[in-house]
Amino acid sequence: MTPRVRTALLISGRGSNMRALIAAARAPDFAAEIALVLSDQPDAAGLESARKMGVAAAALDFRSYPGKAEFESALDQRLRAARVELICLAGFMRILSAPFVEQWSGRILNIHPSLLPDLRGLKTHERALAEGRSGHGCTVHYVSADLDAGPVIVQARVPVLTGDDAETLAARVLIEEHRIYPLALDKVARQLRVAGARAAQA
Ligand code: GRF
Repeated sequence: MTPRVRTALLISGRGSNMRALIAAARAPDFAAEIALVLSDQPDAAGLESARKMGVAAAALDFRSYPGKAEFESALDQRLRAARVELICLAGFMRILSAPFVEQWSGRILNIHPSLLPDLRGLKTHERALAEGRSGHGCTVHYVSADLDAGPVIVQARVPVLTGDDAETLAARVLIEEHRIYPLALDKVARQLRVAGARAAQA
């Protein structure tokens, strides 16, 4: 059997996308395995959920490092020690530096709650409503050095309904996030396996 692609999930909070990815990766034919969950926040609720789901989870407390470079160096070491090949940001609220992104080029995915390239950045549901949009959604994309600007892998659209507030709209988008993030991870992991097999043959 082809080995599955060892994947780390980086979180900062409740971890609902993380749970969707862990659950999907239980399927025997899923191309990625969730090797590790890491949080930059020691009190992230997702850490406990990951352990309950049988996945190793640890905090790398951002505040215990002198700066971003030291934090990212510790993160990089941790990922390499766990033989991680692919990283999924799942509600990870820290912007990774260009050198870190470069080191992991083509191997970091993120989920963003808008139809990119529209509504990059924060407060996307509030902004979709304020702009009177009729449609909204979510995007899984590769992470590049520019925030929320890397190549799109999968998107899903939802309607904005009369009477929506940011909470109802976010809940409708979140259902789609949980559906498309596993699809995108499986797709990218399959591509990496093919590329790895080709490289091994060459
Ligand atoms: C999601 O809305 C995701 O799109 C955004 O942060 C939120 C994380 O939620 N990047 P959760 O921690 O996965 O529940």
